[in-house]
This record gives sequence, C-alpha cells and structure tokens, in this order.
Amino acid sequence: METGKAEVHGAAEGLRRQKVGVLGAGTMGSGIAITVARAGHPVVVRDLSEDRVEGGLASIRKFLDRGVERGKLSAEKRDAAVSGLSGTTELEALADCDVVIEAIFEDEALKAETFGQLDEICGPETLFHTNTSTLSVTGIASGSKHPERVVGTHYANPAPLVNLVEVARGRLTGDEAHRRTIEFVEGLGKEVVLTKDTPGFILNYFLVPFENDCIRALEAGMGTVESIDKAVTLGLGYPMGTFTLLDIVGLDIHKAVSFALYERLRDPRFAPPPLVDRMIAAGHLGRKTGKGFYEYERAGLMGT
Ligand SMILES: NC(=O)c1ccc[n+]([C@@H]2O[C@H](COP(=O)([O-])OP(=O)(O)OC[C@H]3O[C@@H](n4cnc5c(N)ncnc54)[C@H](O)[C@@H]3O)[C@@H](O)[C@H]2O)c1
Repeated sequence: METGKAEVHGAAEGLRRQKVGVLGAGTMGSGIAITVARAGHPVVVRDLSEDRVEGGLASIRKFLDRGVERGKLSAEKRDAAVSGLSGTTELEALADCDVVIEAIFEDEALKAETFGQLDEICGPETLFHTNTSTLSVTGIASGSKHPERVVGTHYANPAPLVNLVEVARGRLTGDEAHRRTIEFVEGLGKEVVLTKDTPGFILNYFLVPFENDCIRALEAGMGTVESIDKAVTLGLGYPMGTFTLLDIVGLDIHKAVSFALYERLRDPRFAPPPLVDRMIAAGHLGRKTGKGFYEYERAGLMGT
C-alpha cells in the first residue's frame, strides 16, 4: 500500500495552518493525526480515556520516528509535527479547531450525537469531517444543527501511507464546506476522489465484495491463500494480496464492515462468508493476534 510518497507539503509550504481536532485515537484516528501533523497543522487528539489518548500519541510519535529512521521524513518536520501534537479526553478542548475529523466507533447514533455536542462547542466556521466506512454521511449530519458543514472524508487504511481520500458529499453538505474540505485534504498531500453519500462510497463498494469473492474461492478450494494472493498481485496488479490485506485490516473489522454494507444494500456479495466466522471464533483475526490467513512471528498491527 506504500505509495512511495516520502514527504507531504501542506501547511508548512504556504497553505494556511489550521488547528485540527481528531476524535478517536484508534487505528484510523492515529493514522489521520499523523497525516495532518506531518502536513504542518497543529493537532489535538481526543479519546475517552487517558490510556487511549496516551496509547494513540505514543504510536503517532513512533510512526514519525520510524519515518525519520527510514529517510522518509526530515528530523525537522518530525520535530515540528510532534511539537504541534497534543491529547485530551475533553471535547471542549476542540473549541478553537478549524476542522474536526471524527474517527470514533462505527455507530451512527454515537457519531450523530457527537457532532451535536460539537455544535455547542465549536465556532461557526468549523468543518466537521466523518471518516465513516459504511454509514450515511447525511444520517450522521442529522445530529448536527449545522449539517451543511458535515462532510465525509474517508481515509483508506493505513492513512499515512495510502495517497487517497474519498470526499463524500451528504444531501445537506453545503458548497462552501465541500470546497474547503477538498482544499484541506489536498493540502495534506492526498489525492481526492469525489463521491456521493452511498454505502461504502467507491472504495469499499468494489473492495468488500472482491475480498468476499477471494474468501469464497478459498473455501471452494479454487486455490490456496498464497496462490490467490499471487494471482491478485501479479495478475491483477493489486499492490498487495487480498489475504495479506485482510490480515492487516483484521477479520473482525472485515466482518463488521461487510455486514454493515450488506444490511444497507441487501446484496449477497456483501454478506461475510462463513469462513470469516470460523476464523473469528478461533481467534485468527490477522496480524493483531499473530495468525489470520498467514502466521506472524509477532502479534501487532502492521507487524509492529
Ligand atoms: N480500520 C479501518 O480499516 C478503517 C478504514 C477507514 C475508515 N474506518 C472508520 O474509521 C472509524 C474508526 O475506526 P478504527 O478502525 O480507527 O476504530 P478503533 O476501534 O481502532 O478506534 C476508535 C477509537 O474511538 C474512540 N472513541 C469512541 N467514542 C469516542 C468519542 N465519543 N470521542 C472520542 N473517541 C471515541 C475509542 O475509544 C477508540 O479508541 C470508524 O468509523 C471506521 O468505520 C476504519
């Protein structure tokens, strides 16, 4: 998934520095915070407990340090990113943010309620971005008194490495918020793909049924994990095999995403195949448990 892009040039290269709040210090919140901090914007990360905030900040710093060690980021830019980074458990700490990017649990009512709370806290110009994978941007925006400032920005995982963000316009998203969002995301050094507020947007609408097809092909004995991954990479030109990717995403997450899209679309291609349930029951979730479709020497996200 690595794009080869060594450094991004956003705010540091002349674009306006904006204070950015990131909600959620998990997989995506941390990855998005890295992306934003690396582009020169000050970032405050909010999660529900001190432990989660500290865990997120530690993984963000570790990722930036590794970037310097591998020659992908200058020490100066790492230092600038780290100095602009802070964490909090208080939603009120996001009061002066120009942009708030939400990457909390995939729960529409929770996301809608959170944007409703932010209405009371943030200023009249603040942009509200949701990183939902499967929910409706319009549904999430319905919790806000300012749905015209709510926009879907779907960062692919891992956010600091994949050079793509889908910008999804809800039914109530305003022109100005849409325009400012595109400008902000491009300022992070990302390519923008514009999409409508449809289940899975573009990326997951194609990816999830394809992943399920690969799992069904494996169950049917069409090939092995290795041979299917080889066909997908060498034959189809994908940057990594489907089973390699599913082990990074996690089988539990794949099931949740797949099932949520199935529920919205009622299309059987999105229904998670039974092998996924058996793997989850066995604890074979992928890299994070040390075994998924492949086995790993160490358990941990991205092998870290
Ligand atoms: N993991 C992926 O591959 C991926 C890719 C693209 C988009 N997404 C989407 O990104 C979002 C986050 O996914 P994730 O994989 O990072 O989940 P995660 O479980 O790793 O992290 C979610 C974090 O949000 C925190 N949280 C929950 N409620 C909160 C609140 N009200 N305020 C602040 N923090 C809160 C949790 O404590 C947790 O640390 C979801 O909407 C998901 O669909 C995930």
